[in-house]
Formats: sequence, structure tokens, C-alpha cells
Amino acid sequence: MARVALVTGGTRGIGAAISKALQAAGYKVAASYAGNDAAAEKFKAESGIPVYKWDVSSFDACAAGVKQVEADLGPVDVLVNNAGITKDTAFHKMTLEQWNAVINTNLGSLFNMTRQVIEGMRARKFGRVISISSINGQKGQFGQVNYSAAKAGDIGFTKALALENAKGGITVNVICPGYINTEMVQAVPKDVLEKNVIPQIPVNRLGEPEEIARAVVFLAADDAGFITGSTLTVNGGQYHA
Ligand SMILES: NC(=O)c1ccc[n+]([C@@H]2O[C@H](COP(=O)([O-])OP(=O)(O)OC[C@H]3O[C@@H](n4cnc5c(N)ncnc54)[C@H](OP(=O)(O)O)[C@@H]3O)[C@@H](O)[C@H]2O)c1
Repeated sequence: MARVALVTGGTRGIGAAISKALQAAGYKVAASYAGNDAAAEKFKAESGIPVYKWDVSSFDACAAGVKQVEADLGPVDVLVNNAGITKDTAFHKMTLEQWNAVINTNLGSLFNMTRQVIEGMRARKFGRVISISSINGQKGQFGQVNYSAAKAGDIGFTKALALENAKGGITVNVICPGYINTEMVQAVPKDVLEKNVIPQIPVNRLGEPEEIARAVVFLAADDAGFITGSTLTVNGGQYHA
């Protein structure tokens, strides 16, 4: 029986590449998204992967969403916590709304989503929880106090949850991408990318979403059971924590 994988934010950018790579590896995949229906429908038409709309920053919405996915596809074996946003500004100008939105979407979502599936994984003695953090959660980034705090939180979440579930066949790992060629990074002005970002990347280019997806498929595999609590850095050599 094919294992079931649920990818949050799985309809665009890195998440879309993760969804497609898991599908190609033989998983039954569900992709969630927040509100961009046009992108989700396009993704669904291209890939044949079912899409589900809910807000990962809401615990109740996650409970209802996971229930629907499990009714459609079966119990979730692999959860990929990928959905994320940025609301960049210097801390001395940051509003409480900008802080809360980023913390709740990028860190609160790990509680909201993982809590829905962990009891089932424990009962079945198999599970993979893979979260997408960021290089900026490892090293900090100007204008991203909210994002860096949330993404660093994802790493702590992973280390602690891995310990609690290590004996039960469940692995919990986190991937820290560097700068990846998605809409999130394309929002950075081109001259800033060329003058300030790419020169800091030893491999001398942005990463591609498929290069993060490859790491997810590796960690999701049944025979990756000895890898847990780890932080996998995929950043073209830019930073080593
Ligand atoms: N791009 C990079 O260079 C980079 C680097 C390091 C880490 N990351 C991390 O990698 C992950 C994916 O980034 P990306 O660049 O692929 O982003 P993206 O292209 O902006 O796509 C984000 C995805 O997350 C979904 N999403 C956002 N907020 C959500 C919410 N509240 N509830 C449910 N879904 C939500 C979006 O849904 P809609 O389509 O409906 O908006 C979309 O599917 C994020 O966690 C990001 O922080 C990215």
C-alpha cells in the first residue's frame, strides 16, 4: 500500500516540487494551500494531486483539514510542514500583526498540523515529520526578526519531538533551505539578488525547489529510520550552523 504524504503549502514554490517528487516516489499525496485558488487549480490539473484549502495558523482549521485528507486518502504517514510566509521589516518598525502572522504561520503551524497526526503515527508505529525551516532561522537576517525567530523555533520543535518519538518508528527532521528560486525570493528586487544575495552563495546561483524536494524524499523514506532530530542544510554552501 502506498504511503500517504501531506504537504502544507504544497501547491506552489518549494511545496509544489515536494508534492510532485513524493508522488513520483510512489506516495499518495495531498497538497494544502491558503487562498491562491488559481495556483492550486493549475497545480492540481498539471499533477493530478488533490488540493485542500485551509489556514495552517488555525488549529481548528488544521483539525478539519487533516480529517478530510485522511477520509479521502487514508492516515497520514508523512507530514511535510512547508507552508510559510514573510512579513519583513526592521524590528523597531514591526507591528504586532506582522509578528503574530509570521510566528503563527511558520511556527504555530507545526503544532497545529503535527498535533493532528502524531497520535495516529504513534499508534501505527510509523511516521515522518519533515519541516521546512530556513538558513535565516540558523543565522538570523536583517529585517526578519519575526521570521528568524519562527524558523529557529522550527529547529527546536524538531529536536524535542524527535526525542519523544524516537522509540516509536517516527522520525522528525528539519530542512534549512538557503535562497531558492521561488516567488518568495523573486519578490526580492533583481539588482539586490544579483549584487547582494548570489555573491554570498558559494555555488553561485539560487537553489531550485526540486533540490529541496530531493532532501524531503530522502528523509521520508522507510529506510531513513536512523535519521531523526537532524537539521539538514541545503544552501549552496552559504552557511554552516
Ligand atoms: N524560497 C526560499 O528561498 C526559501 C528559503 C528558505 C526557506 N523557505 C521556506 O520554504 C517554505 C516554502 O517557501 P516558498 O518560497 O515555496 O513559498 P511560496 O512560493 O510563497 O509558497 C508558499 C505556499 O505556502 C502556502 N501558505 C502560505 N501561508 C499559508 C497558510 N497560512 N495556510 C496554508 N498555506 C499557506 C501558500 O498557499 P497559497 O498559494 O494559497 O498562497 C503556498 O502554497 C516556507 O516555509 C519558506 O519559509 C523558502
